[in-house]
Amino acid sequence: MPTSKKTPAKKSAAKKASASATRGGNRKSASQDAIALLKADHKHVSDLFDQFEKARSDARKKALAAQICNELTVHAQIEEEIFYPAFKAALKDKEMVPEALVEHGSVKDLISAVQEQEPSGEMFEARVTVMGEFVKHHVKEEEKQMFAKARKSNMDLAALGEALATRKQELMASDAALRSARAMP
Ligand SMILES: [Fe+2]
Ligand SMILES: [Fe+2]
Repeated sequence: MPTSKKTPAKKSAAKKASASATRGGNRKSASQDAIALLKADHKHVSDLFDQFEKARSDARKKALAAQICNELTVHAQIEEEIFYPAFKAALKDKEMVPEALVEHGSVKDLISAVQEQEPSGEMFEARVTVMGEFVKHHVKEEEKQMFAKARKSNMDLAALGEALATRKQELMASDAALRSARAMP
């Protein structure tokens, strides 16, 4: 028994070490609980939508729209993989999570449309603007209803925060790798 226990422990230590090496020693968000992390994402994306509204050049709009799409995709994915299932299980929820998933679906449709389109013209702007309105509504419901309920529940928000942060970094890293591979000649 003791020998069989050693191997997984070693493996997981090695895995952790290599994961933190890949992250380049990034120490942020280790202490953020799940709600703080998700709210920080919301605030960040809301700031990006504000910047998009004020942007003048097509290049700046293109860069901001791409960043908004990437950040929202990663955020939706970590909620769907980690936070929503935990909330559903802890609160026996049959309403908030399904509605949130439908709203994610609408935002993802707009993300695909924006990613496919040239960053100029009124339809591009309209899609990003409507995406911002959908996201604002969705975020308000999450923060006022879902997160408020989660706070009062017995969910382990600290452990979930760590799981969300780890998964977010993995997804961001693979996204960055994908983009740099695309940029190669
Ligand atoms: Fe969400
Ligand atoms: Fe969210």
